[in-house]
Amino acid sequence: MDIDLSTNIGIKLKKPVLLASGTAGYGEEISKWIDVKSIGAIVTKTITLKPREGNPFPRICETPSGMLNSIGLQNSGLNHFIKNIVPEIKKLGVPIVVSIAGKNTEEYGKIAKKIEQCGVDAIEINLSCPNVGYKELIAQNTKSSYNVVRVVKKSVKVPVISKLSPQVTDIKIIAKTVQDAGTDAISLINTLPGMAIDIKERKPKIGNIIGGLSGPAIKPVALRMVYEVYNSVQVPIIGMGGILSAQDALEFIIAGASAVAVGVGNFINPQIGAEIISGLKKYLLENKIYKIGKLVGRLNTNKMVLNQA
Ligand SMILES: Cc1cc2nc3c(=O)[nH]c(=O)nc-3n(C[C@H](O)[C@H](O)[C@H](O)COP(=O)(O)O)c2cc1C
Repeated sequence: MDIDLSTNIGIKLKKPVLLASGTAGYGEEISKWIDVKSIGAIVTKTITLKPREGNPFPRICETPSGMLNSIGLQNSGLNHFIKNIVPEIKKLGVPIVVSIAGKNTEEYGKIAKKIEQCGVDAIEINLSCPNVGYKELIAQNTKSSYNVVRVVKKSVKVPVISKLSPQVTDIKIIAKTVQDAGTDAISLINTLPGMAIDIKERKPKIGNIIGGLSGPAIKPVALRMVYEVYNSVQVPIIGMGGILSAQDALEFIIAGASAVAVGVGNFINPQIGAEIISGLKKYLLENKIYKIGKLVGRLNTNKMVLNQA
């Protein structure tokens, strides 16, 4: 019997595994190493209106449990993206989700509109950007998150995915907010702030001192957030954070993710997306579950009490 791996995250995907933003270039880069048709979709690195040089070097450092990065949204800007990158990524034959970030609500709307006109499949709103005039991220403020998502939704017809930050007290509140603003799906989670120190030099290992932690260390946090959000909203969730195997992906799906994305895993093994997909198939076959959708959110918590004391 055939296994149905298709899923709907605002856009319909044949396979439930994406490559997370910032970890597969614009798609055309990773296509030199992998058959991109073997995965569900590519999320491009975040693009901004104007080109950005990014943060000081070094921008990446390994830790025993994951990776720290502080790229600083380096990219060549919207115009360059539209003129030079879009024609290339359109040739790939796999759905492309374009991640965007703006300086303010209006800029998010403007970028989204221009991106849609290029004929991309969906837009992911990176809400982990500084909130203009405040010492917080957009994703830490319900009003700002609502406004950005609402404006982008009003500006485009393609599906809109909101990517949330784990740096909040209650992720359910932000998730409900972006749902109210009309998001078609939610991506969870972006990196967590962290640091590493070179004791010989007594210097931070990252040029920006603090970087974003991703990889196995953040998986339990991400999983908890997917579980909480799944039980609070109705829109589909794309789960990510430390997914390095089919086992990891299955945990996210059982917790409530309709699809998963691989980030740091791409740096370790560019074939990881395809390998996870075959692992998912194997699990479904062995367990006689012929449709991946039937596994989403099937966490058995019978007789278990959630003690939030
Ligand atoms: C080098 C690097 C660059 C990233 N750049 C972006 C980015 O441009 N936009 C974004 O929304 N997330 C970005 N992320 C976050 C990832 O998309 C993902 O949410 C996070 O790394 C958690 O997944 P992982 O543990 O599988 O890496 C980046 C992550 C890494 C490691």
